[in-house]
Amino acid sequence: MTRLAYDTFCYRGKDLFVEGVKLADLAHRFGTPLYVYSGGKILSQFESFDRAFNSVPHTICYAMKANSNLGILALLAKAGAGVDIVSGGELFRARRAGVPGSRIVFSGVGKTEDEMTAALRAGILMFNVESGEEMDALARVARRAGKLAPLSIRVNPNVAVDTHRHMTTGKAENKFGVVMNQAEALYRRAAKNPWLRVTGVQAHIGSQILDVRPYGETLKKLLDLVDRLAPLGIAPGILDIGGGLGVVYNSERAPRPIQLAELLLPLLKGRSLKLLFEPGRFLVAEAGCLLTKVLYRKEPGHKNFVIVDAAMNDLARPALYDAHHPVWPIRKGRAGRYVADVVGPICESGDYLAKARALPRPEPGDVWAVMAAGAYGFSMSSQYNARPRAGEVLVVGNESRLVRKRETVEDLVRGETIPSFSRGGNRP
Ligand SMILES: Cc1ncc(COP(=O)(O)O)c(C=O)c1O
Repeated sequence: MTRLAYDTFCYRGKDLFVEGVKLADLAHRFGTPLYVYSGGKILSQFESFDRAFNSVPHTICYAMKANSNLGILALLAKAGAGVDIVSGGELFRARRAGVPGSRIVFSGVGKTEDEMTAALRAGILMFNVESGEEMDALARVARRAGKLAPLSIRVNPNVAVDTHRHMTTGKAENKFGVVMNQAEALYRRAAKNPWLRVTGVQAHIGSQILDVRPYGETLKKLLDLVDRLAPLGIAPGILDIGGGLGVVYNSERAPRPIQLAELLLPLLKGRSLKLLFEPGRFLVAEAGCLLTKVLYRKEPGHKNFVIVDAAMNDLARPALYDAHHPVWPIRKGRAGRYVADVVGPICESGDYLAKARALPRPEPGDVWAVMAAGAYGFSMSSQYNARPRAGEVLVVGNESRLVRKRETVEDLVRGETIPSFSRGGNRP
């Protein structure tokens, strides 16, 4: 794969390009709303993470909930990444994209026995178990399958991170993980079970983390647990620090993986543990944009609205987290400064992509790019208001491929039936 010689998204003349491809051409060819991803940016993010930790044994398991398109999964798998999955569906996708079982970790508080069975059959690296009852279920599944289950316990380190309240996961009040003072007992129980193999210890403290210090605090707590387990003959060899590294959406100063490495690696001196990371957002957020077409302007006097063809069903983050996404015209040239709310066609007041944003006054038909939309964009999208989900395009260099077709209205009703008792004549 050739290295990028230019910035991922940049204007050349009046036109916005992703790598070597003009976004206007993609909008014309594939229509809008359309997600567009830069494969080069995804790979360069992956490589920067990988390089930062290359002095120690490590695996980067992409948290595919951020964006589970097969084209992206295959690209990352080819570069050496594994994946972090949270469902049987994600396992299916990962395997379909060619991710080897040996590079898959399974997170989540509610894995079903069917999902565990499928993952065990796929020979995954480890199950990040989040409760005693889940551990018992895993042991039952393993016994039934006649196959040892590799296990790590996700601990809740009770560490605070400065992020949106819906994105912290490592505080005691969150549903995730096993509280520290119960983890040791659970490991003792696991070590005694002939169907479980203690493989690792894991924590994931939150998402969109901009200050790396809580990772240091977390690592110290995990190492303390490892040290308490050692005299018992219990040795989890993999230390999984989770994901969460933040990115730039607005004017944040996002940390780089090297800062994380500089913080964590000194704490690991003299230990022979393998590190595992589960970054999601960091790998894909800045690599993606959502192209949307201006439909109408509405100017009631006290403010302006620009109504576009993408909506909260396509990109839920503004409605869910009040998230900021930059909006860039894909063709420069219109004059003036126009402040407007950028809203979608959905019948909810929360359906907006940007609030009070200053842009040149658009004409209907103009296309805008909603930036930094590669993570938790398409993967959180829905068909709400019976809106077919957007297409997705992956670009590498000068090449672009449609990696997911836009849904049709037929896709909306696939699998549905009308029972006989619903049918009948028309009422007068
Ligand atoms: C267990 C686990 N690992 C990793 C991630 C990825 O987080 P991020 O996308 O912020 O890197 C998540 C996100 O919810 C998660 O729950």
